[in-house]
Amino acid sequence: MTKINISKRLKKIADMVDKESMIIDVGCDHALLDIYLSKNVLNKKIIASDITDGAVNQARKNVSLYGAFNVEVRKGDGLEVVKETDHINTLIISGLGNQKIESILKRNIQVLNDIDTIIIQSNTGYDKIRKQINNIGYYVVDECLVKERNIIYVIIKFKKGNIKHSKKELYFGPILLKNKPSLFKELVQNEINNNNNIIKKLPNKNLLKKFSMIIKNILLKKEIHY
Ligand SMILES: C[S@@+](CC[C@H](N)C(=O)[O-])C[C@H]1O[C@@H](n2cnc3c(N)ncnc32)[C@H](O)[C@@H]1O
Repeated sequence: MTKINISKRLKKIADMVDKESMIIDVGCDHALLDIYLSKNVLNKKIIASDITDGAVNQARKNVSLYGAFNVEVRKGDGLEVVKETDHINTLIISGLGNQKIESILKRNIQVLNDIDTIIIQSNTGYDKIRKQINNIGYYVVDECLVKERNIIYVIIKFKKGNIKHSKKELYFGPILLKNKPSLFKELVQNEINNNNNIIKKLPNKNLLKKFSMIIKNILLKKEIHY
């Protein structure tokens, strides 16, 4: 049987998945993560879903190529593919932007009743994602950073529970703030550099915006001076 190799980013996501989970991976694309999970982590059931025919066809081909027989591929929009009888307890969404992720969660919120673990790798707006998922009754239990092709990805694991994070924790990530992993400085410095580029281009009439971004950069710098 063909051995599966996955990217560093997907491997980090897989490392966050609990054994014996019942998983839905929304936006699976090639389903390589799900096939890896099926082969390397003891999971009871994995639904790999995607909205496009191309992705679903490729996912089915890969599942059969690698013989990942507990991966079921379904076509559909977001969480609409999940049935009550699936008894899914873990949701993975990776490689999408925060607005899309937020809309997927909002549109089928009832599916979350059974879900106690959510693992997210959003390409944008990690603070917004943390805030939204914290507001709907989950809190951050694990976070990690991974750098691939010069991009730093943030991976966040949530568990159901009513622990509320502070504004600062939602912004930087409660676990990232506590552990300050080696890529944390680089992630925050990248944000400071982006802000500086915006500040330089802002016309003088936007003085208030300029000023608030300068203050923001001072606060960001404070977090990486250790
Ligand atoms: C960039 S790929 C990410 C693939 C994989 N999750 C990863 O992290 O490598 C995003 C995938 O999400 C799918 N997608 C976008 N919106 C979706 C939705 N509303 N429901 C299901 N899949 C969606 C796209 O078709 C695409 O295959």
